[in-house]
Formats: sequence, structure tokens, C-alpha cells
Amino acid sequence: MQFITTSKDISKLYSQCTVIPLFDRGKSKVFTSLDEMSDGFLKKTVAHTAFVAKFKKHLVIHAPHTRHKTIILVGLGSRTEFNRSRLNQIAGRIAAQITAINPKSVLYCLSEMHTRSLDEALCLRQVALALHQALYRYTATRNSGKHKATKNKLQSCTVHISEENTQTRRAIKEADAIAHGMNLARDLGNLPPNICTPSYMVQQARKLVRSSKKLHLRVLRETDMRRMGMGAFLSVSQGSAEPGYLVCMEYRGAAKSKAPVAIVGKGITFDTGGISIKPSATMDEMKFDMSGAGSVLGTMASCVRLALPINVVGLMACAENMPGGKASKPGDIVQTMSKQTVEILNTDAEGRLVLCDALTYVQRYKPECIIDIATLTGACVVALGQVTSGLMANDQALADELLAAGEDAGDHTWQLPMSDDYQSQLDSNFADMANIGGRWAGTITAACFLSRYTEKYRWAHLDIAGVAWHSGSKKGSTGRPVPLLTQFLISYSK
Ligand code: BES
Ligand code: MN
Ligand code: ZN
Repeated sequence: MQFITTSKDISKLYSQCTVIPLFDRGKSKVFTSLDEMSDGFLKKTVAHTAFVAKFKKHLVIHAPHTRHKTIILVGLGSRTEFNRSRLNQIAGRIAAQITAINPKSVLYCLSEMHTRSLDEALCLRQVALALHQALYRYTATRNSGKHKATKNKLQSCTVHISEENTQTRRAIKEADAIAHGMNLARDLGNLPPNICTPSYMVQQARKLVRSSKKLHLRVLRETDMRRMGMGAFLSVSQGSAEPGYLVCMEYRGAAKSKAPVAIVGKGITFDTGGISIKPSATMDEMKFDMSGAGSVLGTMASCVRLALPINVVGLMACAENMPGGKASKPGDIVQTMSKQTVEILNTDAEGRLVLCDALTYVQRYKPECIIDIATLTGACVVALGQVTSGLMANDQALADELLAAGEDAGDHTWQLPMSDDYQSQLDSNFADMANIGGRWAGTITAACFLSRYTEKYRWAHLDIAGVAWHSGSKKGSTGRPVPLLTQFLISYSK
């Protein structure tokens, strides 16, 4: 889908579907101009239907006798109350309206939407991103059926803005790059676990790396990991017939001497729980347990599209968590690459086991900071729901940068405390630590576990268990937190 911006006189533009966002007070030049062109039809219809431009109210007007076949008036509410959160909400709503109408072309009248605190480029980016997201369709494993009927016809979206400049051009580019990364992450998440295996993740990394000279790939196989002493990672993958892989993608956008940002994703392509097996209801959703790794791949792809002038290393810790004759048992003790030993009291706490060795390994790159992304705990979903991801860090400046990036991108995250007082919950009678921390504060004790492998570095952990996918009738991957991570890297590159 192509976005074109223009600041031509609105009366010269037309389209199959025209979106006009309106504040509740004050005159809109765009509305007045289109009303004049329709000989007062718009005003009459508004009066007739008693439409008021309250936040989230909308009116769809069919006006085949004008140059705008369908006109959607969208209420933005009060200008002073319009903020980032409202912008993102309304952008999502409008995108849903447009995809429901399913036109070939759209004219989006954005020139009056920006306010003193929200500049036009940001409005443009979020609106474009929302439309890109709404147009996503998963088709890989369907041969027929209803998705064919709802094929998106939209080819181009013309956005009328008040001024075209470098920022607005950049906004379109960022929306495109973020959407592209999200789509990759969503496709990977949505694929069934018999297709999206650890080997498949390796193939997808290869494919991406081949697409850019700035990307380089290193894949560690189980034999490599054994040699390096990654006993925790191997304790997970040994239960499965599918071999595990640690996939390292290097993006070189700056001088070699510049320390990279490291992003490390949990890539459990299916989490049965292992011998501590999960209940069967909704177990299918554990195919999404590789979403952290998917977001790493997606973010690397966004970096390439934006040609960011930084170095990034993206790791994906890919394995399948299965019960089996070789699977680890509750009570097993393994040694990690860091030489610390772990008593596996619950084989379902496998994410931290693959991540701890990946976090130790990534320190070879002497990164500027390390961010891990994982669908790590059900407790995080209980705490924050499906709206907000959990953030924990050993460095407040890094945490603040991630929180800010999340707000900018409309990809919300919330920091949880991680004081040393929680660490004792991981005490083990037989090893340096246990892999679970008991009933309380499960999200925090999981982060505490990881913190023991990143002490020498600025590190942050994103628990995306609630936000990586939708359940129920809208079941499917969301592509989060690609927007947050990409925004973080964009800000970092400035
Ligand atoms: N992948 C799950 C976390 C999860 C559960 C994400 C439900 C989304 C929805 C993770 O591997 C897991 O099983 N965690 C356990 C940890 C526990 C055994 C300490 C959990 O949350 O129950
Ligand atoms: Mn698990
Ligand atoms: Zn898991």
C-alpha cells in the first residue's frame, strides 16, 4: 500500500473514500470546501443526522453525486484534550472503518488534525501505521474461504497535509518500515507450530540477511552450544525432536568501533510446558511463544528499511519445549554458560532457561545495552492485561528511554519494580538458583532470574506475554513490540 502526501487545494482532490477528522469546535476549511463542492449536501446531512464531532463519533455519508463517493466524518472531540493516546485510538478506529468499506483509494484529510502538542508528522505517522496494520491479512495456510472475499482492494492513500517537508516524508517512511517489521513478526507468530519450528526461524533469518548487505548472520547449533557450556538452553531443546538454534543477526549501519544495541528474543516455537505440562485448553496459543524472537526479526527488518546509522545485534533463542524421554525433569540441575547452576523446579519456566544463555553469549558483542523481549510469564497478563507490556531494568535511564519510545509509538509499556528483596525467592537448596520464584510476583522473579546473567551491562527486559497476540475470535499475532523497539532505535540513532 502506497501513501502519497499532498498539500494541494482540497477542492482539487477526490477519491472513492474521503476521511475528514473534525474537532468539536471551530471551523474546518476542509469541511467547508467540500460542502461547497457538494452544494451544501454535507451540511444538510450533518444537520439531518444531528452528528456532533465528539471523540470517536463518526458519520458515514454516501455522496455518489460528488467527487467523493463515501465521506467519513470522524469526531476528534475537544482540541485541548486531543493527545497521543487519542490520536492512536482514533487512527485505529478510522483504519477499521476504511477496511470495512474496502475502497480502492482513500483521501485522508489530515491538514487540520495537528495541535500545539502533536505535530503533523507524528499524526501522519500514526495514522499511516494504523492503516498499514488494519490491512494485514494472514493468508499463508488458507486455500479457500472467507478471507478471499475480504481481500483488501486499497491500493493507495492520499493524505492531505498542511505542509510537506522532510519530517512528513520521514513519517511515511517510518510507518512503512515499522509496518513491514510488524507484518513479518505477525506472519511468524501466526504460522502453525508444525511449520514455524526453530529451523524455520533460522531460514527466515537467512532470508532477511540475504536481503541487505548491512546484515550478517551467525547460527549456533546444539553442538556449538554444548561446546560453549549452554546447559540451560540445551535442557529445553533436548526434550524435542526439533533441534534448537541460537540465531545471531548483526546489523552494521555504523562504524565497527561503535558498540551495538543488543536485542534478544525468546523463540519458543511451541511451549507445551514440558514434563510440567500445561493444561490443554488454549494450549494452541503457545505457538505464539516465539513472539519475542519474531519481534527481533521484525525490528531488524525495520532497521534495514530505515537504514539507521547504528549497529544492532539481534539474537533469537529458538527451541521447542516438549515432554519426552530426553526432556528435563523437575529437580534436574543444569549449568549455564555463565557457570551458575540452576535447579529446574518447573520445566514450564523454560523461557528464562533459553534466555539466560543467550544473554551471556550476547556479551561477546560488548553491547551498549541489552534488551530482551519475551512472552515470559502468565503473571504479567494477570497484572497488566493485553494492553501494556511489563518492563524491568537494572538501569533507570534505559528504562525511561524504552517507556518514552513506547508512548511515542503507541505501544504501551509499564515498569515494574525489581529490587533485590525479590531475589531470595529464587533460592534453591541444591543449586545456585531455582528457575521459579514461587506464587507471588511471578513476572518480577522471572526478571530477577535474568538479571543474574546481565549484571555487567545496562539491561532491560520486556515481558510481552499479554500483548504479543490476541485471544478469542480475533486470535492472532499483534506484531508488538516492533513499534516500541523500532522507535527506541530511531531515537537512539539521533
Ligand atoms: N510462555 C509461558 C508464559 C505465558 C503463559 C505467556 C500464558 C502467555 C500466556 C511461559 O513459558 C510459562 O509457562 N511461564 C510460567 C512460569 C511459571 C512456571 C513460573 C507461567 O507463567 O505459568
Ligand atoms: Mn512455559
Ligand atoms: Zn514459554
